[in-house]
Amino acid sequence: MGPTIFSQSRFATRVSTISDGCGSYPIGNQGIIEFTGDPRDMGLFKAPTLRNIAVTAPYIHDGSIATLGEVFDHYAAGGHAANPNTSQFVPGFVITEDERIDVIAFLVSLTDEAVLADSHWSGPFKWIL
Ligand code: HEM
Repeated sequence: MGPTIFSQSRFATRVSTISDGCGSYPIGNQGIIEFTGDPRDMGLFKAPTLRNIAVTAPYIHDGSIATLGEVFDHYAAGGHAANPNTSQFVPGFVITEDERIDVIAFLVSLTDEAVLADSHWSGPFKWIL
């Protein structure tokens, strides 16, 4: 098994933009509570892999963030301030513009051109068409 730093196996952490201000998310986009029925799971989504993140916009579970820069700014702002369930690990932060560019460049560096061009992973429906 390879390194796991780019994907977590556990479900994690409310980082999303959208809630009703009381911690509830829109029906159909509520996280794993929709499968478990456990109120503690409201707004919990699995942290996705960052591999090829530069080519998989729009972002987060409902595609409500258009660019990596906006995702970054969302984290810098501490997630959705009106959501009482936002993770303690998303407290917000201040960095310089150069540092912001560096982090986004790091995310772009996770692009795997070989996988993107590998026909083995293309055309998932070619077997049934
Ligand atoms: C500055 C630091 C961070 C960056 C640059 C970052 C980057 C990203 C990006 C680009 C996505 C969208 C992935 C996609 O749509 O495929 C994402 C989603 C996510 N991240 Fe982070 N992340 C950061 C910090 C964190 C932390 C600290 C946590 C956990 C406490 C976390 C947990 C998650 C989760 C659960 C999602 C999925 C959210 C959803 O689908 O609604 N991230 N992150």
